[in-house]
Amino acid sequence: MASGLIGRLVRTKPAKLTSTARLIPSRCTSSATESKTSSGGGGGGRGSNLKTFQIYRWNPDSPGKPELQDYQIDLKDCGPMVLDALIKIKNEMDPSLTFRRSCREGICGSCAMNIDGCNGLACLTKIEGGGGAAKETTITPLPHMFVIKDLVVDMTNFYNQYKSIEPWLKRKSPASEPGKEILQSKKDRAKLDGMYECILCACCSTSCPSYWWNPESYLGPAALLHANRWISDSRDEYTKERLEAIDDEFKLYRCHTILNCARACPKGLNPGKQIAHIKQLQR
Ligand code: SF4
Ligand code: SF4
Ligand code: FES
Repeated sequence: MASGLIGRLVRTKPAKLTSTARLIPSRCTSSATESKTSSGGGGGGRGSNLKTFQIYRWNPDSPGKPELQDYQIDLKDCGPMVLDALIKIKNEMDPSLTFRRSCREGICGSCAMNIDGCNGLACLTKIEGGGGAAKETTITPLPHMFVIKDLVVDMTNFYNQYKSIEPWLKRKSPASEPGKEILQSKKDRAKLDGMYECILCACCSTSCPSYWWNPESYLGPAALLHANRWISDSRDEYTKERLEAIDDEFKLYRCHTILNCARACPKGLNPGKQIAHIKQLQR
C-alpha cells in the first residue's frame, strides 16, 4: 500500500513516515468554468467568481504519494460553506473525491477537516470570497491521523479512547424507584454545560501537540472532556474510580495547557479548562 506524510503531519496507513514528502498540485477545472479566467477570490470573467480549492488526495488502491489537487469552481454557483464546495466538486467534477459528512449543520461532527491550516467543520466554515480573500483554499485531513482515503481519517484510536473513559452513568446504589429517571437539580445539571455539547468531531485532539506526539498513551482533550463530564455528574457514583483510572502521567498529565484545543473547537468548548478541573480534583 502506498503511503506518505504530508509536511503538515497527516499520516497515511500504514505509517511509513516520510516527513519531507511534498504534495504535488494537479489541476481539475469544471467544464462550466474552464473557459473563464481565474482571478482567485476576486472573481474572474463576466459574472463569475472563481476560486481554487486545493484538496488532499490519496487513494490506497493507487500507488503513489499523496498530492494536492486543484479544483476551480464559481462561487456564484455554489453554496456558502466549504462543505457546499466539496459536494459540488464531488457531484459535478470528480465523484472519486472522498470525505465524510452527514447532518450539514454542525451536529454530527463527521465533516471535521483542516481548512487553510485550521481544524474545523466544513459545514460551518464559510468559503472565503470577495476582493480580500486568498486565491486558494487548502483542505487536508485532520492532522496527525492515519488517512484511509482523501479527507477520511481513521477514528478508531480516538473512539477507543472515548470508550476507555466509560462514557455512561455508573451507579452503586439502586434507583429509588426502579424504571424511573434519576433526578438532578438544575444547579447540578448546569455543571455539565460546556461538556455535554461535544459532538466528538476530534478537531481539538488533532490540534493538540501533546496528542500528536503521544496519540496512543495520552487520552487527548476530547476524551478527557468527556471524562470530566461523568466525573462532574451528580448522579454518577464512580467519581473516585474514574479519577483513579486516569491519574496517569500519560493519560492525563501530557496536557500542558497550551489551549490549542479551545481554539480549534467548532462548538466553542474549552477542553483545556475541563482537564484543569480534573487535575484539581486529583490533588
Ligand atoms: S490544553 Fe492540553 S489538551 Fe488542550 S491543546 Fe493544550 S495540551 Fe492539548
Ligand atoms: S470538544 Fe469540541 S473540538 Fe473537541 S471533539 Fe468535542 S466538539 Fe469537537
Ligand atoms: S456534516 Fe455534520 S457536522 Fe458537518
